[in-house]
Amino acid sequence: MSAIRVEPTTPFDDQKPGTSGLRKTVSVFRQPRYLENFVQAIFDSVPGRQGATLVLGGDGRFHNKTAIQTIIRMAAANGIARVLVGRDGLLSTPGASCVIRERGAWGGIILSASHNPGGPDGDFGIKFNPSNGGPAPERITDAIYARTREIGEYCILDTPEVDLSALGEQTVDDMVVEVIDPVADYAALMERLFDFDAIRALFQGGFRMCFDAMHAVTGPYAREILENRLGAPAGTVINGEPLDDFNEGHPDPNLVHARDLVERLFADGDAAPDMGAASDGDGDRNMILGRRFYVTPSDSLAALTLNATLAPGYARGVAGVARSMPTSRAPDRAAALLGIPCFETPTGWKFFGTLLDAGKATLCGEESFGTGSDHVREKDGLWAVLFWLNIVAASGKSVEDLVRDLWARVGRIYYTRHDYEDLPKRQAETLMNDLRARLPSLFGTKQGGRLVMLADDFAYTDPVDGSTASGQGVRILFEDGARIVYRLSGTGTAGATLRVYIERPEDDPARHDMDTQAALADLIATADALAGIQDRTGRGGPTVIT
Ligand code: G6P
Ligand code: ZN
Repeated sequence: MSAIRVEPTTPFDDQKPGTSGLRKTVSVFRQPRYLENFVQAIFDSVPGRQGATLVLGGDGRFHNKTAIQTIIRMAAANGIARVLVGRDGLLSTPGASCVIRERGAWGGIILSASHNPGGPDGDFGIKFNPSNGGPAPERITDAIYARTREIGEYCILDTPEVDLSALGEQTVDDMVVEVIDPVADYAALMERLFDFDAIRALFQGGFRMCFDAMHAVTGPYAREILENRLGAPAGTVINGEPLDDFNEGHPDPNLVHARDLVERLFADGDAAPDMGAASDGDGDRNMILGRRFYVTPSDSLAALTLNATLAPGYARGVAGVARSMPTSRAPDRAAALLGIPCFETPTGWKFFGTLLDAGKATLCGEESFGTGSDHVREKDGLWAVLFWLNIVAASGKSVEDLVRDLWARVGRIYYTRHDYEDLPKRQAETLMNDLRARLPSLFGTKQGGRLVMLADDFAYTDPVDGSTASGQGVRILFEDGARIVYRLSGTGTAGATLRVYIERPEDDPARHDMDTQAALADLIATADALAGIQDRTGRGGPTVIT
């Protein structure tokens, strides 16, 4: 038994977890004691670690393996009995959530900065998920943060490195380290939820898809599930080798960053595959494409809701749906058609946890390319792809047909998000404050020819635990069902990002083929005029349009 080393330390004052754990540049994490302090704060503030099982892994970005060795030594010194670590240090975020739940773990430490670039000059991150497998609720992250402010020592052992490449058990002092196949538990769960025979038959019949793993963590998952288990031809998965700098890419599944994929899916004629999909750095986001056809995340959630019973795991029906406030109201319409509730929550996956745990919502999603269900407690990229494949296989319809069906049944909601990135913080905050101050006077006025029916700053009371959140974004609702939402991003690292979400329903099927920006042109102008965006920022337009 090696002696536990109790190392004196002093607090860092910047260890407050954000939307998704502690996210900083690699250089910040490489400071001596920086990671150690945060990990010790987790051990000190979450009860029950003695003799418990800890799940450990990350998205494979630069610094992942080094951090894992440190965390293993600290776990052994802090009384953890067993660490389940993904081979080569890999575990996707939904994969980790799955293992935490399946193995009854005390919790998991996931090393990821999601879709942010990696490499020595990129970002790194660490987050803790408790035993339900979901993101730590605020009471836990607050406790961890409070501990980082007063920490005086951390515990570690001087043990040799664990071999992360060999499956099976090793020991570190009294603790067992089991290197697990990162894909096995997750793939087994997917086989229980979806009709693998039907999807296999689909591929055998010549259906072609392209999955872009963006050189991030879903490569091994997608290869095993799509190519090995479902028989999709080799090469279906592109950019499938996880690289610690994501090949200098930006592993975010959208029309801009998933360039390889978009080029293939929008190729002329038969060269384009039938379906395309991509996931992000840690595997929780997804983008779905049909042949020369983009599915908005909001429509994706609505279409999955309408067709859910085609998948065995959801054959008994969907209890309810939940979407974040800025997500379009397409899921509300799908839910209304099915006679089930649709919950509107603030932005951030953590707000879905209570609804999923209580069985009030089965499916949930966000406009920011997140979709998921009660099968784990994180959003899940590959799950969404398999759900779509299952529905395509069971219905015999293409991705585009399924979305057009949705529009035919509930109307099309034209939807766009305009981002103004890297604004001076003060300027963005003043813009939002001025807008908030005007809200009471907007009701009943006409803006751009539309009557304002509601103007508020979104506040939420969780229907399960009664917790509240306010100041979650400005909503302007018009008489014709159009809506404009303004909020500041909670995940940006440079300056402030203003996000403006603009949508309007179109119930006439003869008008379902317009270009989105053209269909929303007058509302886009209203959104700018209402908040004075161009006047105040001097910007000619948004930096990113999704
Ligand atoms: C992360 C969270 C999502 C959330 C998104 C919002 O990805 O996991 O749940 O929707 O951030 O980001 P924003 O930059 O709009 O605050
Ligand atoms: Zn992510």
